[in-house]
Amino acid sequence: MRVLVVGSGGREHALCWAIAASPALTRLWCAPGNPGTATCAENVAIGVLDIHDLVAFAVANRVDLVVPGGEPPLVAGITDAMAAAGIKCCGPSAAAAQLEGSKTFTKELCDAAAIPTAAWERFEDAAAAHDFVRRRGAPIVIKADGLAAGKGVVVAETVAEAEAAITAFMEEGTLGDSGRACVIEECLVGEEVSLFALCDGTHAIALGAAQDHKRVGDGDVGPNTGGMGAYSPPPALTKALEDAAMARIVRPALAEMARRGTPFRGILFAGLMLTAEGPVLIEFNVRFGDPECQVLMLRLRSDLLLALVAAVEGELSHFALRWSREPAIGVVMAARGYPGTPVKHTPIRGVEAASAVPGAMVFHAGTEVLDGRLVSSGGRVLTVCATGADIGAARASAYAAVGKLDWPEGFCRSDIGWRAL
Ligand code: AMP
Ligand code: GLY
Repeated sequence: MRVLVVGSGGREHALCWAIAASPALTRLWCAPGNPGTATCAENVAIGVLDIHDLVAFAVANRVDLVVPGGEPPLVAGITDAMAAAGIKCCGPSAAAAQLEGSKTFTKELCDAAAIPTAAWERFEDAAAAHDFVRRRGAPIVIKADGLAAGKGVVVAETVAEAEAAITAFMEEGTLGDSGRACVIEECLVGEEVSLFALCDGTHAIALGAAQDHKRVGDGDVGPNTGGMGAYSPPPALTKALEDAAMARIVRPALAEMARRGTPFRGILFAGLMLTAEGPVLIEFNVRFGDPECQVLMLRLRSDLLLALVAAVEGELSHFALRWSREPAIGVVMAARGYPGTPVKHTPIRGVEAASAVPGAMVFHAGTEVLDGRLVSSGGRVLTVCATGADIGAARASAYAAVGKLDWPEGFCRSDIGWRAL
């Protein structure tokens, strides 16, 4: 099988690495890829939103399956465009990608399918939004309605913080059009976990779970990021809670999408809060998480490529995935300045030594090769992962691997996995 992965992050490196292990694979490309994907796939210099060029490449190279890593091409309709050219793509249509593209869409779907989620209200008028938070008080959560690359959510501890977010998103337009409309919702309390499901339009199978660390600083403080580290499995998500989330959240969402004539195929990522009343949906995403994908791929024992094909072909009903019992942990190495403006083009040494630590695996994200040297080129630069007999052992190996890196301009959190220990 000839496969094209779309993206250039640590998630896509992990996807390429897992797909490359499939006996069913004959050729693998990654667009645009990074120096990590170059070790297991052929990089193609096409951007993730150059959908016309991606389709042309897939047709010219007789690609059997396209695997988009992130949401931007999905929301922009890559699956529809590939389908129109007769090419299979493991991801939702643009219509189904609204589950991530619009907070309002998802909230309305939750109401229609009786999926537990935080009580919410939508505002297009800033004055009404200010008035609402003054009446409701804090804590309260302000969310830009559109896509905002992880920067569109403020969990406000005070009314002043909530009002500042409304002013920034709705009046000053700091997020562009994404923030002109906002959803304001009840603040949920509990342990947060990410549950992944592989969906074929009708059936969903659990695709593992992980816990992410969104804040930039140790102890979960500071601004939100795309994710500073993850581990899997999350001890807080028992089998019973996972089954409850599949039954009350994932399957009803799938059924409602099918009923509307926009069936969901691909990877559904349910961000859950494990509250006293059971799992409650925080949000859906329509793809793997990054860095959650990296730790899940380290634990997957089944053939990822065959599972993705089964999802696209509507044949998941009899599919089961096998997982390693060993936990995995991933520590993100970011460039100084992240999540603001990261320093760029600083040399990174020691990746080979880090990868040689037993159980460790280094996935590339924002790296590039410049004059023959590996340098940083983005905010999140590497995900240093490891498996181990237990979460403590996995964590010790991951940080031992981090210690082998020689990159003074990089930093990481030193407490990834603390909730599980
Ligand atoms: P989202 O982009 O919707 O995933 O939100 C980003 C983060 O904000 C989530 O991972 C949660 O940590 C937090 N969050 C979002 N909605 C809520 C809520 N209703 N209550 C508490 N925390 C929330
Ligand atoms: N790590 C969170 C995400 O990928 O959305």
